[in-house]
Amino acid sequence: APYWVIVPAAGAGKRMGTAQPKQYLPLADKPLIAHTLQNILGWPNVTGIIVAIAADDRQFQSLAEAADPRVHTVTGGSERADSVLAALDFLSAQQPPETTVLVHDAARPLVEHGDIVRLLEAASMALLAQPASDTVKQAEPVAGGQSLVRQTLPRSEIWLAQTPQKAPLGRLRDCLARGLKENPAAITDEASALELAGHHPQLVPACRSNFKVTHPADLILAEALLRHRNSPAQQ
Ligand code: CTP
Ligand code: MG
Repeated sequence: APYWVIVPAAGAGKRMGTAQPKQYLPLADKPLIAHTLQNILGWPNVTGIIVAIAADDRQFQSLAEAADPRVHTVTGGSERADSVLAALDFLSAQQPPETTVLVHDAARPLVEHGDIVRLLEAASMALLAQPASDTVKQAEPVAGGQSLVRQTLPRSEIWLAQTPQKAPLGRLRDCLARGLKENPAAITDEASALELAGHHPQLVPACRSNFKVTHPADLILAEALLRHRNSPAQQ
């Protein structure tokens, strides 16, 4: 079945610490976001892609991938959820509420095709996620800005949320809009907005290569994985 993809790409990339927002940093042969878009354009049956870009963005339109007729842009907002909501508003004006939407971070260029196929086959509300491999501590802040362990969480129940996250257009838009009004700090991904409304999205296990490029070391790893994937031995 056909579906739309929303790509939040309006962030400043503060943790990367570069002047340039991380989605435009060079990765192998082209900007990071160009890899992400090339990846998405290869997913099965994508009808269209809506990229949320910053109001002062001057770089997006010069990407080769931006010329694909399936790629549209909207102006993003101050938080990731605002950017996603802007794209959902745009899409709602032209598509019915039952349209399937996948939201995928511009900063995850390396999501695997097989994981996308399994997400598309999963429940109507679902997300890629990774079972925790480290032991997870819940912290208790103490004076002086330090942290003490409050408790260890049961690792077998801990998953780290990734993207894409999938939901029907109308439901996601309603839940995100309401969540942003009632408890904006709790809305850190699409699933969290659905959860606040009582839904239980399906967790679909994903490859570790689908990490979010966030810190400088992530860029080095992403570049190495891209080169490995494109090397003759892998084709
Ligand atoms: N994003 C967005 N609009 C915002 C903030 C973030 O569209 N107002 C996008 C980012 O461009 C990124 C994705 O959401 O593709 C995930 O966010 P994150 O990794 O936090 O990126 P930044 O917010 O840019 O980075 P940082 O938090 O380090 O500043
Ligand atoms: Mg951020």
